[in-house]
Amino acid sequence: MQIRNLKVAFRTYGGRVQALDLHRLDVRPGEILGLVGETGSGKSMTALSILRLLDRKAEVQSGEIIFQGEDLLKKTEVEMRTIRGRRITMVFQDPMSSLNPVFPVGEPLVRIIAAHEKVSFRAARQRAIDMLALVRLPSPEKVLSAYPHELSGGMRQRVMIAMALSSNPDLLLADEPTTALDVTIQAQILRLIEELRAHINASIVFITHNLGVVARIADRVAVMYAGDVVEIGSTADIFRNPGHPYTALLLQAIPRLGQKRGTLPVIEGTVPVVTHPQPGCYFYPRCPVRIERCRVERPEAKDLGDGHWVACWKQDGRLPPDNSEGNGEV
Ligand SMILES: Nc1ncnc2c1ncn2[C@@H]1O[C@H](COP(=O)(O)OP(=O)(O)OP(=O)(O)O)[C@@H](O)[C@H]1O
Ligand SMILES: [Mg+2]
Repeated sequence: MQIRNLKVAFRTYGGRVQALDLHRLDVRPGEILGLVGETGSGKSMTALSILRLLDRKAEVQSGEIIFQGEDLLKKTEVEMRTIRGRRITMVFQDPMSSLNPVFPVGEPLVRIIAAHEKVSFRAARQRAIDMLALVRLPSPEKVLSAYPHELSGGMRQRVMIAMALSSNPDLLLADEPTTALDVTIQAQILRLIEELRAHINASIVFITHNLGVVARIADRVAVMYAGDVVEIGSTADIFRNPGHPYTALLLQAIPRLGQKRGTLPVIEGTVPVVTHPQPGCYFYPRCPVRIERCRVERPEAKDLGDGHWVACWKQDGRLPPDNSEGNGEV
C-alpha cells in the first residue's frame, strides 16, 4: 500500500482542523509496520482513512491511498464494503465496544467465515473453532458460544484478532490493540502477534504511542507528528540512529530497567492542533535543536539510505547534552 499526499480536515465550530497532511507512507507485503506518535498525531485518522471510515465531519481534501494497485479513495461505498472486513481488517483498542453484547462471540466469526469461504454452517463453525485455537484461546468450543461479558479483556481481544484474521486479509490495522489491557496481558497479546506471523500473510500496521512495544514486533517504524510521518525506517535504524529529534526524545522516554525513579524524561508541550497550516516544521516550538530555517521552511523527507527517511533539516537526531539525562519530570 502507498499513501501519497493525503490531506484530511475536520470541520469544527472553531474552524477547520487539518488532521492529516501525510506526504508519504508505504506498507510492504507481509511486514509489521509500527505507527507511533503522541496522542493527536494522526495515527487513528490514517487507519480510518484507509478503511474509509472517517467521521462525516471529516473531509478527504486530496491524496491517494493505493492498495494493490488501486486507489481506495476512488472506490464507491459498495466496492469498499467488499474490501473492508475482508481484504483489509481492523482491531480496535476496546474489544468490548466492537463486540455485540447480545450475541455469543462466535456468531459474527462463523458468519464472516461462511460468507468469505462460501462453506456450510458446519464447516464454518469448525473453521471458527480452529481460528479461536490459533489465537490460543483455551476450550475454543466453549468460547464460541460465550457472551462477550463472560470473557476477560485479553480473551475478547484474542477473539477480535481471530475475527480480523478469519477472512485471510492482506492488511490488518491494529489500533492500540493492547492499550486497554494490563501489562501481563499486553505482553501475551504481543507474543501472540509474534507467533501468528508464521501463520498469516497479512501486512500488519500496529498503532501505538509506545516505542517500546514496537521494538519487539515491528520490522519497520513510522513516527507521526502533527498529521505527517516525520521519520520511517527499519526498527534497528530507528532505534540505533534516529534521524529526527522527536524520535530521539520518544526513545528517551522509554523506561529502562535500573533507571532511577523520577528520571524519566518528558517531552515538553503537546502535539499542535493544526488550524492554520504553517510554512515551517510543526515540531519547531518543542524542538531542542531547532534552527531558523525550521521556522520558515517545512523540512522535506530525505533518504538516509536503506529506506530510512527523515523530515528534518538537521537529520542527525542528536540531542543537546543537557537533554540526555532528562529533566527530572515524570
Ligand atoms: N472528531 C474530531 N473532530 C475534530 N478534530 C478531530 C476529530 N478527531 C480527530 N481530530 C483531529 O485529528 C487529529 C488526529 O487525531 P487521531 O485520532 O488520528 O490521533 P491519534 O494519533 O490516533 O491519537 P491517540 O493516540 O490519542 O489515539 C487530532 O489532532 C485532532 O485534532
Ligand atoms: Mg488513536
